Amino acid sequence: HDAVDVIRVKRDGGTLTDDQIDWVVDAYTRGVVADEQMSSLAMAILQRGMSRAEIARWTRAMIETGERLDFSSLSRPTADKHSTGGVGDKITLPLAPLVAACGVAVPQLSGRGLGHTGGTLDKLESIPGWRAALSNEEMLAQLEDVGAVVCAAGSGLAPADKKLYALRDVTGTVEAIPLIASSIMSKKIAEGTGVLVLDVKVGTGAFMKDLDQALELARTMVDLGTDAGVVTSALLTDMSTPLGRGIGNGLEVSESVDVLAGGGPADVVELTLALAREMLAGAGVTDVDPADALKDGRAMDAWRRMIAAQGGDPDAPMPDAPHVEEVRAERDGVITRMDALGVGVAAWRLGAGRARKEDPVQASAGVFLHKVVGDEVKAGDVIMTLHTETEDRMPRGLAALAEACDGAGTVDVTPGGSVERS
Ligand code: URA
Repeated sequence: HDAVDVIRVKRDGGTLTDDQIDWVVDAYTRGVVADEQMSSLAMAILQRGMSRAEIARWTRAMIETGERLDFSSLSRPTADKHSTGGVGDKITLPLAPLVAACGVAVPQLSGRGLGHTGGTLDKLESIPGWRAALSNEEMLAQLEDVGAVVCAAGSGLAPADKKLYALRDVTGTVEAIPLIASSIMSKKIAEGTGVLVLDVKVGTGAFMKDLDQALELARTMVDLGTDAGVVTSALLTDMSTPLGRGIGNGLEVSESVDVLAGGGPADVVELTLALAREMLAGAGVTDVDPADALKDGRAMDAWRRMIAAQGGDPDAPMPDAPHVEEVRAERDGVITRMDALGVGVAAWRLGAGRARKEDPVQASAGVFLHKVVGDEVKAGDVIMTLHTETEDRMPRGLAALAEACDGAGTVDVTPGGSVERS
């Protein structure tokens, strides 16, 4: 085989053979195909697309580069959820213990955040003592005992994807649907879950900005999962405005605990329950209402056990940020728009996210929304508070927000003069 031949086929709009796909994915992972060659192939795939059969083979080839986990020894069925990522999307935190409390084990292998959408592991690491790294044996034991585990995906699962995703990130080739779908699904299929529910986000704060693209991504991933024997379904959900009120690592943990205590913002509760019902149905559990498990404390019990099993203190309060600023309404009105991307970028600049994968994140940084879309405000009401551990980040957070909320009939939060700050 020759990498240049493979690149030429895709460059000219052709279809790659199974053999070519198996070879190029494996050879790239072993360092035989060079980064610049794979980068060129990724660009050709982005521009020319792939058939359903090519995507399925590509996904299989990525899985084959690593290990597969096996949960068949567990006494319960397994179900997992994957979100394509959004602002304030902390749903995994209440969802995993909730589904476990309803009798289905949740093996949630997660990542850290890059860019404006935070990672689940970053959020949980706000809890003192909690550790993300578990061996496969520890993971299996916790799944049997507690029923839910959220931990770092080990380097053994789809190593091809780890290498390829990093390359795509720096070559403008992340946005290819065949590559996104195979990247996500190779990890989830290798993880060995029996049921997978995909939460595909649509809107400014999401990967997919428009509905048609999100639908295509969802369909592609559902096909891949189904063909691989995983019971797979997808929900398309809105990400034009942040989810819930807390955006930032510790703020999202606190909000998740509120949900597990039977409270929390309505949109977070609603999406958590919708995903839980879908996961339970996929696992054949239809006689349990997850809403009951939120009300009667079973989900909270599962959360506490899940956190404690990984060394975390479920009673530790989330850290308070040393620097907090309020953004207030400058006139009476109704909040008509609060842009997810703008709020997400603000939280990122404040320290909740990272620019490079080596960067640390701040546990207490982020944005808390006191008012959300649809709320009436009077001049002087606090719309949101900005939190950071490093004072010099505050103006950067405010500048990002200036773009988040504007337009006729909305409350202006334009910084630099027109915003009243306390
Ligand atoms: N998330 C992934 O894991 N892979 C992608 O390609 C995009 C999002």
